[in-house]
Parts: sequence; C-alpha cells; structure tokens
Amino acid sequence: MKLAAVLLAAGKGTRMKSDRAKVLHRVAGRPMIEYPVMLARALEAERVVCVLGHQAEAVQAALSSRFGEGAFEVALQTEQRGTGHAVLQAMPALSGFDGHVLILYGDVPLLTAGLLRRLVEASRDRLVALVTMRVADPTGYGRIVRDTEGRLVKIVEHKDATLDERAIDEVNAGLYCVRADFLGPALAGLSTDNAQGELYLTDIVAQAATRESVASVSASAEEVMGINDRAELAKADSIMRGRVTLDLMKSGVTIHGPETCFIEHGVVVGPDSEIGPLVQLRGATRIGAGCLVEAGCIVTDAVLEDGAHLKPYTVVAESRVGAGAHVGPFAHLRPGSDLGADVKIGNFVETKKARLGKGSKASHLTYLGDAEIGADVNIGCGTITCNYDGYQKHKTVIGDGAFIGSDTQLVAPVTVGANAITASGTTVTQDVSPGALALARVKQTEIPGYADKRRRREEARRKELADKAGKAK
Ligand code: UD1
Ligand code: CA
Repeated sequence: MKLAAVLLAAGKGTRMKSDRAKVLHRVAGRPMIEYPVMLARALEAERVVCVLGHQAEAVQAALSSRFGEGAFEVALQTEQRGTGHAVLQAMPALSGFDGHVLILYGDVPLLTAGLLRRLVEASRDRLVALVTMRVADPTGYGRIVRDTEGRLVKIVEHKDATLDERAIDEVNAGLYCVRADFLGPALAGLSTDNAQGELYLTDIVAQAATRESVASVSASAEEVMGINDRAELAKADSIMRGRVTLDLMKSGVTIHGPETCFIEHGVVVGPDSEIGPLVQLRGATRIGAGCLVEAGCIVTDAVLEDGAHLKPYTVVAESRVGAGAHVGPFAHLRPGSDLGADVKIGNFVETKKARLGKGSKASHLTYLGDAEIGADVNIGCGTITCNYDGYQKHKTVIGDGAFIGSDTQLVAPVTVGANAITASGTTVTQDVSPGALALARVKQTEIPGYADKRRRREEARRKELADKAGKAK
C-alpha cells in the first residue's frame, strides 16, 4: 500500500516544565520524535511530513542530523489550534499524493511497527482506520462511540462528552490511517464549534462513519502511551530500554542483570558478547562478536572489535578498541584513542588521542595523550606523556618494539625510535635513536652505615628531651 506519514509535534508540552521541546527529550538515548520517523521509514512511507511549531528549528535540526535533510518535510503550525488544524498545515506537502496517510504523534515513542501494520491493513478499502484502547481511567481522552451493532459512529472529546459518553472506557489513541483523497475534503469540513474552539481531527471519523467506511484496531495502553511529563518520560525510557536489551538477548548477547543496564536504542552488539551488570552503552557504540564488557563500564560512541574485553568500571568515549584487546579495570579511554589488536591497557591508565599498535601494553598508572605508539611497545608503570606546555598540545611518537621504563616522562614533542629503551625514572626531553638506551636520572651514590647513624642521632635527641623534662619537675 502506498503510504505517507504526518507527524503531529507542534505542541508545547507544558507539563514537561522544560525549555526544550517535548519531542526532543530522550527515550533510550534518542529524541522521542525519532521513533515515529523511524517507523514511518520502516513502513516505506513515500513522504514524511512533520508538523512543527514550538521550537520548530531545534526539532528540525535534530531530525536533519539523524535522518538527513531530504528524509522529511516540515509543515509549520505557528499557532496550535487543534489536531485537525495541525494536519491541515501538512496538506500542501501531501499534494498529488494518492495513497493512505498515516497520522502519528511525535510524543508516542513506544509505538510498534506491528501495530502500525495492523492499522494500515485495516485501512485497506476504508476511508479511515484508527487505533483504540481500553483504559481504566479514560479522563481526557476522546471516547469511542459505537452503535448497538458495535459500529464506530464518532469520537467525542472528553470536554464535549455527556455523562453517559464519559462512562465509555474505549478511547481514541490518536493514530490514524486515512485515504488521502478523503483527508483534504474531510478537514475542510471541520468546524471549531466545540468546547475547546479547536479544529478536531477526530471529527473526520464521524464523516467517514456516515459512509460506513471506518475500521478500528485495538492496542495496549503501553504501546500508544503519550509522554506528557517527566514521570511518563522515565516510564517510556525504561520500557524502551527493556525492549532494546530483550532484542539483544534474542540476537545472542548475554546480559547479566539487563534491568540494571542502560543500553541506548541503536547500539549494536554482536553475538556471543557478554554484558555485565550496570553497564551503559550509548550513542553510536558498536560492539563486535565475542566481546566481554564487565560490570560498570560506560561506553559512548565507541567501537569494540571482536573479542575485545573491557574489565570493570572502564570508561570509553569516541574511541576504538581492537580485536582481542583488554582494557581496565578502571581505565579511561578518552576521545580519539585507537587501540590495535591485542593491546593491553591496565588499571588507572588514561589515554586521549593516542594510537597504540598491535600488541602494545600499558598495564598500570599511565597517561598517554597525543601519542603515536607502534606495535609491541611496552609502556612501564607510571609513564606520562607531558603533552601540554600550558599553551599548546604536542605529540609523542614511539616506534615499534620500544621499551619505556617505569616512571618515564616523555616531554613532547619527542620521538623514541623503534626498539629503543628508556631507563626507569627518565625524563625524555630529546629524541631517542632507534635501539638506543636513554637514561636521564641522577647517578646513585651510597653512604655506608647511614641508617645506624641516623638512629643514634634520633635516640640522643629523645634522651635530651626527657632529661630536660626531668629537671623541670
Ligand atoms: C487527542 C485526540 C483525543 C485522543 C488523544 C490521545 C483530538 C481532538 N483529540 O487529544 O481524541 O484521545 O489525542 O492522546 O484530536 N498537536 C499539534 N498541534 C495542535 C494540537 C496538537 O501538533 O494544534 C499535537 C501535539 O503536539 C500532540 C498531539 O498533536 O503530539 C496530540 O495533541 P494533544 O493536545 O495531546 O491531544 P488532545 O487534543 O488532547
Ligand atoms: Ca495528549
């Protein structure tokens, strides 16, 4: 079936109490408006029209950066005069379109493709299909009014409903699939003669009903839940994250304590990878197959290649961890870290814009910033690249097979040649030739018997103090 989609997202979302447009608040890491757009694209809608009003520019920018500018059109609704008025704004963008139009809300992120497919199917040979649900408390919703045969007659908004109608617990979810050639004339027939003085989109249902051309599908309250405040936002976030972890588990990922993990929508994890409790995987993170991400790791916009292993409480951002590399516990890979295969980064190591070649190791207590490090390099404990002179950052280059002794300071810009060695405690201020030993530390001297001498001196001092105290009595 030929489809277009209209997303209503012009409302202010007053109950969010936010300066940010409601639809930009995040659910499982993504601005909530991305979800209906993703669904519209999944259903191959030929046109996606977003009706924007409140903070339209910010919403448009967010959508463009995610989907590209050509992926959707914007219809501005500067004054929010009702859902019918909102769809009217989208009509110019639908001109010439002759299929069915899906009408969705920008603040209903838990919607599923399955429900939308049922809705589209129900709209076949009909002017209008809509989604209804039964709720314990229908206050605020439009009520579904049916005749004695159960045929849908109309939707009555809460504020316009009689007491009898208010007792109806079947309500309008606000999702429709409408034949395009019916939509325009139906909208033209709307009036503001109602309790709110708005153009109600819901009134097109009665128009289609007189032509016996309405179908409805029912949904659970969860999947059509609208987000109006921060409590609902938290609930939707939790449900969406539950779906994300469930999908990953179904695809062959082991997750220990999935309810404790924060895995954002869109994160990729390969089969036979294992995720520990309290792990956060965010943004564009991609994790390969057979990886192990242990408890408490926070990984943002990073790539882990097959078999990579993050030990507990490792923080990784905008970095790449090569196949079979081991990182942590308590390591910090800052943006621009690029670890080759089989690299080992140990506890309390921080890296930033640092490339380490295959098999290199920095096992303990080290800072590597703005560094280009070859393969099979051993970085000893306590090594520091002194990359910042207070004004500018400088680069450290270390060749393949070099051995950096413990407690080396590399004062950048500096190059250590392949297979060179720096002695422990060396401050490297000049380039080191390949294969050479750089040694820059004070030569060790020895004072024989010094410890005894020192002890005797201390004993004498204490005796003198005691004698003084005795005389004073
Ligand atoms: C609407 C339905 C109601 C249904 C309910 C489900 C109408 C008249 N009523 O209620 O039957 O039970 O949804 O949630 O349609 N919007 C605009 N521009 C506007 C008005 C709304 O873009 O001028 C957008 C909002 O941003 C929101 C969506 O449309 O995403 C729904 O608006 P809202 O005011 O929450 O719906 P109601 O009219 O109360
Ligand atoms: Ca609402």
